[in-house]
Amino acid sequence: MKAFYFLSLAATCLLSGVSAFPALKDPSSPQYAEFLKRAAEIKAGKYAFGDILKRAENASSSLETPGGGFGHRRLTALLNPDNFKYNAKEQYVDLTSDEHKYIPPGPDDLRGPCPGLNILANHGYFNRNGVTNLFQGIDGINKVFGVEYDLALALNAYAVVFNGNILDLSWSIGGPFKSKDLGALEDVLVGEPAGINAHNIYEGDASIVRQDYYAPGSGYDNVELYMPYFKDLLALGNNDATDGKDVYNAELMLQHKANRWHQSVATNPYFFQSAFGGLVVTTAAERFVAEFAANNTVDENGYNRIYLDEKNLLAFFGVEKGASGNLTYTPGTERLLPSWTRRPLAATFGLDDIVLNLLHAVSIDQSLLSLGGNTGKVNSFAGVDAADITGGAVHTADLLSDPQALSCFLFQTTTEEVVPTLLSSIYKDTGKALDFLGKNFNVPFKKLATAGNNPCTRYNTNATGHYSEFPGSKIPRKQDQGVVGTILGGGSD
Ligand SMILES: *[C@@H]1O[C@H](CO)[C@@H](O)[C@H](O)[C@H]1NC(C)=O
Ligand SMILES: *[C@@H]1O[C@H](CO)[C@@H](O)[C@H](O)[C@H]1NC(C)=O
Ligand SMILES: *[C@@H]1O[C@H](CO)[C@@H](O)[C@H](O)[C@H]1NC(C)=O
Ligand SMILES: *[C@@H]1O[C@H](CO)[C@@H](O)[C@H](O)[C@H]1NC(C)=O
Repeated sequence: MKAFYFLSLAATCLLSGVSAFPALKDPSSPQYAEFLKRAAEIKAGKYAFGDILKRAENASSSLETPGGGFGHRRLTALLNPDNFKYNAKEQYVDLTSDEHKYIPPGPDDLRGPCPGLNILANHGYFNRNGVTNLFQGIDGINKVFGVEYDLALALNAYAVVFNGNILDLSWSIGGPFKSKDLGALEDVLVGEPAGINAHNIYEGDASIVRQDYYAPGSGYDNVELYMPYFKDLLALGNNDATDGKDVYNAELMLQHKANRWHQSVATNPYFFQSAFGGLVVTTAAERFVAEFAANNTVDENGYNRIYLDEKNLLAFFGVEKGASGNLTYTPGTERLLPSWTRRPLAATFGLDDIVLNLLHAVSIDQSLLSLGGNTGKVNSFAGVDAADITGGAVHTADLLSDPQALSCFLFQTTTEEVVPTLLSSIYKDTGKALDFLGKNFNVPFKKLATAGNNPCTRYNTNATGHYSEFPGSKIPRKQDQGVVGTILGGGSD
C-alpha cells in the first residue's frame, strides 16, 4: 500500500492554504500568462492572438457575479463571450422548425446521462434515435453549444472508440445500440458497443445530479437525474428563481462539484476518480452546464452577457416546476427553451478551457485534483500520489502553478497510459482503435501540451498501475452487473 497516500497536494494545502500556489490567485503569474498566450495562439491559428485574447479574467472566490447576478461573469472561459458584441442573428439557434423543434424521445430512442447530448437529439441536431456519429457529433456540439473543434473532436473520437462502433464511426448517447456493421464489429470488440452509459469509461462518479454507479441503493443507476442532488444544486443557488439572473455561474457549479465529491466519498464505499472520467469529464461537465445551458443576452453597451438562471437550468435538466414549487423530472425531456440564444461562436469553449477549469476547480477545493478512490469503505479515500505515479518527476504543486504542466500531465495520464490499458479490455485487437485515437484524440491534446515547443516528456505516468487498489475502478461488463468486471489496471475478480 505504500503507493497510496492521501494526495500530497491535499495535505500541503491543508497546512498552508491555497496561497501557497500563487498562480491560482494570480492569473498574471508568468506561467499562467504564458499558457494563455499559447492557447490563444492555437485558437487564433493564422490570426494574431492579440485579436482573440481580449483579456484574462481573474478567478474570484465569490459565487456571485457582479451586479447582483445581472452583471458580466467574473470567471470566464479563455475567450470571454462577453468580450464580443451581442449579435442576435449569429447567436440564433433554430429550436422551433419541424426539423429542430423539441420532440421527446419515443420508446425506441436512446437517451443517456448527459443532458446536453439528450438535448441535441431532442432537437434533431443529433439523430433523434440517440445514435450519432463522429461528424454529426462534432458539428452538433459546435453549432448549438459553441464547443471548439479541438474539444469536440477529442470528445467524439473518444466516444466512437470506447462507446461506439469504430467501423462506421457511430456512437450512442445512451445504452447499447445496434449498428449496421455489428457483425463485423464482433471480430473487433469483446462485447457490443456499450454507449456512454457505460460506467468508468466516459461516465464517472460524483457527477452533477446522477448517482454513482456502485453507490449503495443506486441500483446501478448512473443515468437518471437524482432529485435530492438537483435540489442541493438549487439550494446552493438559494432557490433564486429570478428571471435573467446569473445564479448558476462557473463558481457555483464548481462549488457544487466539490460538494458532490465529498458527498460521494462519504456515502459510496466504491467511489473512484480516474484521470479521464474523473478529472477531465465530470469536473468539466459541471462547467459545461454553466457555459452551455446559459442563455445569452445583450448589455446596455451592446455587448454579450452570458447567464444561467433557474428557468433555463430546469429546462436543460428536464425538470418542471409546479405552481407550488414542486419539481418533476421526466427522463429524456431535456430541452432548450424556444428563445434560448447561443454564446457567440467567436468565443468557443475548448480543451484549454478544460485545463484552466481544473485549476479553477482546485482553487475552490483541492480534492478535485486527486486521482484515486475509496478502498471499500466510506470515507476511506486514498489518493495516488502524483510524484509516485511519475516516478518522482512531478509534484502536484508544479501542476498547479503551471497550466501547461497540467495539460502535459493530463495528456499523459489519459492518452498515453490509460487509453491502451482501457482499449485492451474492450477490443480484441487494439491496433485499429489505437491508430484512430492517435489521429483524432491524441492530436488536439498533444497540440496543447506541446504548444510553444514545450517538450512534455517529463512524466512517465503509471496511473493505471495503481487503479486496481480501488474496487470502484472496475468497468462493469453488463449494464445489470455491478460487481463483476475488468479492473482498469488489468485483471478481473
Ligand atoms: C486582476 O486582478 C489584479 C489584482 O487584483 C488587478 O490589478 C487586475 O486589474 C485584474 N484584472 C482584471 C481583468 O480584472
Ligand atoms: C434569452 O435571451 C434572449 C436575448 O435577450 C431573450 O430574448 C430570451 O427571452 C431569453 N430566453 C430564455 C429562454 O431565457
Ligand atoms: C405540482 O403539484 C400539483 C398538485 O399536486 C400537480 O397538479 C402538478 O402537476 C405538479 N406539477 C409539477 C410540475 O410537478
Ligand atoms: C506501476 O505501478 C504498479 C503498482 O505500484 C507497479 O507494480 C508497476 O511495476 C508499475 N509499473 C511501471 C512500469 O512502473
